[in-house]
Amino acid sequence: MHKNRFTRIGFILAAAGSAVGLGNIWKFPYITGENGGGIFVLVYLATVFFIGMSIFIGEVLIGSLQNKDAVSTIENLAPTNKKYWKYTGFTFLTGIFILTFYPVVIGWIFNYIVLSINSLPSNFKESETLFMTFLKNDIFTQIFYYTLAFIVIAYTISKGVKKGIEKLNNILMPSLIIILAILLIYTVQLDGFSKAIEFMFYPNFEKFNSSSIIVAVGHAFFTLSIGMATIITYSASLDKNVNIVKASITVVIMDTLIAIVAGIIIFSIIFTASQEPSKGAGLVFITLPAIFYQMGTIGIYLAILFFIALAFAAITSAISILEPTVMYLVERKNMPRKNATYSVAFIAYALGLLALLSNTDSFSTNLTLGSKNLFDWFDFISSAILMPIGGILLAIFIGYIMDKKLSKNALVPFMGETYYKIWLFIMRFVAPISIFILMLNEIGIIKF
Ligand code: PFF
Ligand code: NA
Repeated sequence: MHKNRFTRIGFILAAAGSAVGLGNIWKFPYITGENGGGIFVLVYLATVFFIGMSIFIGEVLIGSLQNKDAVSTIENLAPTNKKYWKYTGFTFLTGIFILTFYPVVIGWIFNYIVLSINSLPSNFKESETLFMTFLKNDIFTQIFYYTLAFIVIAYTISKGVKKGIEKLNNILMPSLIIILAILLIYTVQLDGFSKAIEFMFYPNFEKFNSSSIIVAVGHAFFTLSIGMATIITYSASLDKNVNIVKASITVVIMDTLIAIVAGIIIFSIIFTASQEPSKGAGLVFITLPAIFYQMGTIGIYLAILFFIALAFAAITSAISILEPTVMYLVERKNMPRKNATYSVAFIAYALGLLALLSNTDSFSTNLTLGSKNLFDWFDFISSAILMPIGGILLAIFIGYIMDKKLSKNALVPFMGETYYKIWLFIMRFVAPISIFILMLNEIGIIKF
């Protein structure tokens, strides 16, 4: 076994660590709530399993073929007269944008772990005031937890693939699964459980409209960490002889199951307290804390477990966002890993600080452009524009530019001829075309 490579299980946990994040536990439940439940979940699942999984397999394929940083991977796989495709590898720079808001939210989560232990808000009004005051006025506490998040992330990456990333994921991911299992077992016996199931799996067309489709498809990219070379980079450290198709499917299924379980947990608690599911981003930070308080002592334990699970999920994802840029600097610029990590972390830290400040009262007027503040702009630019572009380019590269023999030889032994043909069809036609339409709609060139 190569000494600086993931083991099979190490890779699965790390890739699942990347995929399972704020997208599953924070974003998926609230966008499901906002878009009417069941029918939204259906569109999301269809996208994840057709387009998302195909691109995921494509990223694992080229990463494991080359065992290099993303730019070198694409450069080496491109035919001699098309080496310029290597620039596609720079999609990892999208990560810088995501990193600017992702660790800010990790900071909020840290704050809410402490809050769950000390004093949860006793009602919804108080909970809202608490969160808004924290967000808008408590700059010091926010920066404190935000910095803490960055230290954990940068430290782990500086330790490298085996001693840092694999080790941390081997601990955090199983813990996350155990915590979610405990929460699920508890929520099954709540009054709101059956209503939660109904809400998530029965189609409700009222709140569902064309823009819900866009949200669902965009989220499929975000949730699987695809379209920005993250999965390529992790797969570069994959040990030989791993069944990459099986590993990919396992990760996609884990990501999906965890999103659904998180949804069931959150909606069961919400419905048991007779609250509305459509509370936007405040679902987790405003509605849930007040409900936890009203549940008494058990609620405190549930709150602590819930926010710890959220923190674990988010930290492992944030690490995977930073790693591709670090690996690029290490491989192509011969930078020592520590220097690479701290340079990238420093830039992302500074940008994130701006995003954090853009939420606060003191700075929001200076840091708002048009309808969005910096925090929202960074989110929008990355998931609505850059990730879909990265996805299209990658699908085109793998489907058309790269020698077909490479994908055929690597995939057919694991999936057979027929599934390989379906996979190739999705990479060449279904994925690029549908993502292109999605993107034009997102940036407002066409409107459904
Ligand atoms: N997949 C993560 C989530 O669902 O929260 C977010 C993410 C991680 C996106 C890593 C992109 C990435 F490269
Ligand atoms: Na996810």
